[in-house]
Amino acid sequence: MKTNIPAIEGGTAVRETFLSFHQALLDEKEEFSVIQTLRSGWLTTGPKTKQFEAEFAKYARSEHAVAVNSCTAALHLALVAAGIGKVEEKEEKGEKDEVITTPMTFCATANVIVHVQADPVFVDVDPGTLNIDVNKIEEKITSKTKAIIPVHYAGCPCEMDKILELAKKYNLIVIEDAAHATETEYHGKKVGSISDMTAFSFYATKNLTTAEGGMLTTNSTELEEKIRVLALHGMSKDAWKRYSPEGYQHYDVLYPGYKYNMTDIQASLGLCQLAKIEDFLKLRQKHVAAYDEAFKDMEAIVRIGRIPDIKHAEHLYVIMLKTDMLNASRDKVLSALQKENIGVSVHFQALHLHPYYRQRFGFSEGAFPVTEYAAERILSLPLYPGLAEQDVCDVIEAVRKVIGYYSK
Ligand SMILES: Cc1ncc(COP(=O)(O)O)c(C=O)c1O
Repeated sequence: MKTNIPAIEGGTAVRETFLSFHQALLDEKEEFSVIQTLRSGWLTTGPKTKQFEAEFAKYARSEHAVAVNSCTAALHLALVAAGIGKVEEKEEKGEKDEVITTPMTFCATANVIVHVQADPVFVDVDPGTLNIDVNKIEEKITSKTKAIIPVHYAGCPCEMDKILELAKKYNLIVIEDAAHATETEYHGKKVGSISDMTAFSFYATKNLTTAEGGMLTTNSTELEEKIRVLALHGMSKDAWKRYSPEGYQHYDVLYPGYKYNMTDIQASLGLCQLAKIEDFLKLRQKHVAAYDEAFKDMEAIVRIGRIPDIKHAEHLYVIMLKTDMLNASRDKVLSALQKENIGVSVHFQALHLHPYYRQRFGFSEGAFPVTEYAAERILSLPLYPGLAEQDVCDVIEAVRKVIGYYSK
């Protein structure tokens, strides 16, 4: 028998079985495609990767797409290809390059800035979208600023017009972190075609998955050539080209490059997933509409990123709790939902308050108030194409029950 007492307080859970926060939707097409690749004898970067790059570039309306093994790799390559950081004389003079980004993101966005020995400069976020607040960027630009990495949080596009205007004014490179934003469009422009470079993630929980994987798109042929070489040891010819029927070709090492290439096994998953991406989005849009409708009258819940006139990738469904209206903290609500057998998550804790960033850059509480306020109150609900209607109803019932119980 169901009661209004949350399971965490001794009541009966909304669901008998646990609903995962995320589950990839794969079928016989992916299975067949991977088996085909395994049987082809060519496992690493080869014809499937080339095909995936071509199809993804078309989807992203970008001139070029380079497939890599993660979005982190794509972001790192973008910074290296743009010549950011790593200039020892500059460091000796205390003149390290700076890259502007947001503290409301996954650690990879800022970690790669540290990897190239540049300094991340955080700018606080907009409370409605949790995207970088474009009105606060200019005050952070100095003579050391070389790039801006906007993150399209949850799949909602950043205000790219303003970012590109600032980039033009101060001669900055723009690298979009589109880990959440494979399908996103900004006023009719496809993310992936807008700025200097755009990094996508195909991690297991992403809208398009290759288990692990990523893509870097650009409209610049010069950058594309550089990225391709950097992504595979800095070699002038990749294995696919070297072993071609035209005869063996030697390679030259042009840079001390990285091992970031995508395999054909991953690409064979990616091709199948890309073919379904818009259908998957329609399914998630249906779930989002159900959540929006259910929560619109709940005063203790603020829905994040619901803005008009854009194409939202609906990667995450994020709500912010007005904790002053509740007798429970966000973490208590998280635990209560888990006890109702609903998987939940947090995207993200404030990045600048993680131990490394506190110690290395001296950040402390109060540095980015909007991010910190949100980071204590947000939670992400299950949102994936394989959710059944009943699953969505269960999530709604659990949220209503838990929030109702703890409301003041
Ligand atoms: C905003 C953001 N950027 C970058 C990444 C890194 O992606 P990957 O795991 O493909 O390296 C993630 C991963 O979740 C992310 O959420």
